[in-house]
Amino acid sequence: MSDRLFIFDTTLRDGEQVPGCQLNTVEKIQVAKQLEALGVDVIEAGFPISSPGDFNSVIEISKAVTWPTICALTRAVQKDIDVAVEALQYAKRKRIHTGIGTSESHIKYKFNSNREEIIERAVAAVKYAKRFVEDVEFYAEDAGRTDNEYLARVIEAVVKAGATVCNIPDTTGYCLPEEFGQKIKYLMEHVDGLSAGKAILSTHCHNDLGMATANTMTGIINGARQAEVTINGIGERAGNTSLEEVTMILKCHRGLGIDTNINTQKIYHTSRMVSSLMNMPVQPNKAIVGRNAFAHSSGIHQDGVLKNVQTYEIMDPKDVGIDDNSIVLTARSGRAALKHRLSVLGMEMEGEVLDKTYQAFLRLADQKKEINDDDILMLAGADRTAAHAIQLDYLQVTTGMGVRSVACIGLDISGEKFEASASGNGPVDAAIKALKTIIHRQMTLKEFTIQAISKGSDDVGKVHMQVEYDGHLYYGFGANTDIVTASVEAYIDCINKFKK
Ligand code: KIV
Ligand code: ZN
Repeated sequence: MSDRLFIFDTTLRDGEQVPGCQLNTVEKIQVAKQLEALGVDVIEAGFPISSPGDFNSVIEISKAVTWPTICALTRAVQKDIDVAVEALQYAKRKRIHTGIGTSESHIKYKFNSNREEIIERAVAAVKYAKRFVEDVEFYAEDAGRTDNEYLARVIEAVVKAGATVCNIPDTTGYCLPEEFGQKIKYLMEHVDGLSAGKAILSTHCHNDLGMATANTMTGIINGARQAEVTINGIGERAGNTSLEEVTMILKCHRGLGIDTNINTQKIYHTSRMVSSLMNMPVQPNKAIVGRNAFAHSSGIHQDGVLKNVQTYEIMDPKDVGIDDNSIVLTARSGRAALKHRLSVLGMEMEGEVLDKTYQAFLRLADQKKEINDDDILMLAGADRTAAHAIQLDYLQVTTGMGVRSVACIGLDISGEKFEASASGNGPVDAAIKALKTIIHRQMTLKEFTIQAISKGSDDVGKVHMQVEYDGHLYYGFGANTDIVTASVEAYIDCINKFKK
C-alpha cells in the first residue's frame, strides 16, 4: 500500500504575493474551484488580518468550496487568530496556520527575543488557535536556517500544545537538498509526537537557488507527508515549489510508494488559468507546463519519438491534460460551444458576462482564424478593464523602415474625449508619447515584455509593463492581435492603477 502525501496549495496566499499579480475575490474563487477540481487537500486562502480584501476572499472561498480544507494564515498573535477564525466561519473544513520565526536572525533581529520566549509564544499561539479549531498548523519561519536541535524542541512543544501539522519552511530557499532531507529526518527521529502519529511534517520550500522542488522531494522521502506548493511555482522572488512538478515526480517514480489525490489531467488547464488570471506568463521551458515541455525539436529526438514515444518521453502529455487534438473554436462556433470550452477550462459563465465574452470572441475570431484555449482564457480575463476610468478609444500608427513613426491616439477619461498625436523612435514610442501629451504625469516605463500566446503571425500578443510613478511601481497588462495596441493598453492599465 502506498503512503498518502497531502497537497497544500498556497497559490492564493504565498503565490499571490508576487508584485503586480494580485487577484480580485471573483478571480480567487475561480482559482479555488479549479484547485478543488484538481484535487488539492488544503487551500491556503489568504492572510485575513493583512487586508480587508484577504479577509473577504477567505470568507468567499470558504463558501464556494466544499471538499478541501480552507486554511488561513496568522502570526503568533491573538488578534490575527481572532480575525482568521471569523474569516473561516463558513468553511466546511477549516485550519489555522500560525507560527513564528525560529532562526537566530529572526529571534534576534525580528523579535528582539530569545529562544525560550519564542517557544512560549509558539505554544501560546497554538493553544489559543486550538480553542476555535481542531486543525492547527504551526510554521517555524526560516526553519531552513534554524539549527536542528532547537527546531526539534520547538516542534515537540507545539505538537504537545495540539498542532496537527508542523510546517518546516525553507523561507529563504537556502538549504541544499541533502541538508533539508536530513532536517526532516532529524525531526522525525527526535520529536516524540511525530513518531506517535500525533502530527505530520510539512515542507514549504522557496526557489531562490532553484532547489525548491529538490528540497521538497528530499523532505518527502525523509518523512514529510504534506507539501506546500503553488501552481506554476509562482511566489515572491524566485517563487515556491511547483505543484505540477511534485505531483508528476511522484507519478513518474511509482517506486517511491507515495500518492497524492491530484487529478493530473487537470494540471495543464489549471496552470493556464492561473497564468492568465495573474497575467503571469509561464516560461517556455518550465517543467511539465511550459510550452516546450513536450516539444522535441532536435532531429535525433524527433526520430526516436516517432519510432516509440518512450525513447525520449518519460510522461504522456495527456497525463497532464495536454491534448494536441483539443478543439479549436472559430468564428462559426456558437455561444454554447464557447460556454462549454470555458467550463472545461474551469470558468463558469452565464448571462451578460457570457454575452460580453462571446462578442469579444467573435471580434477576435474575425482577426484570427482559430481560437485556442489560451485565447479563450485571455478573453475571459479581459473584462477587468471595463471599470477603468481611462480607456483607449482609438489608435492609429504610421510606421515603417526609414521613416519616423507617428501615432494618433484617442482616450476616454471618465466619459470625456481627448485626442493627441506625436512622433517617436518606433510605433510604441510614438503612441506612448502621444498618450503622455494627454496625461501629464512624471511616469517612466521600467519593464516591457511582449509574448505571443501560441503561434502564427495572426496571434494575440500579450504585453506586460511596469511603470514607475511617484516612487511606486505599477504593473499593467494588454492583449491584442495588434502589439502596438496591446502595448498602449498595458500602459493605460498601469495608469489606471495609480494611487493618486
Ligand atoms: O516562507 C515562509 O516561511 C512562509 C510562512 C509564512 C509559512 O510563507
Ligand atoms: Zn513562503
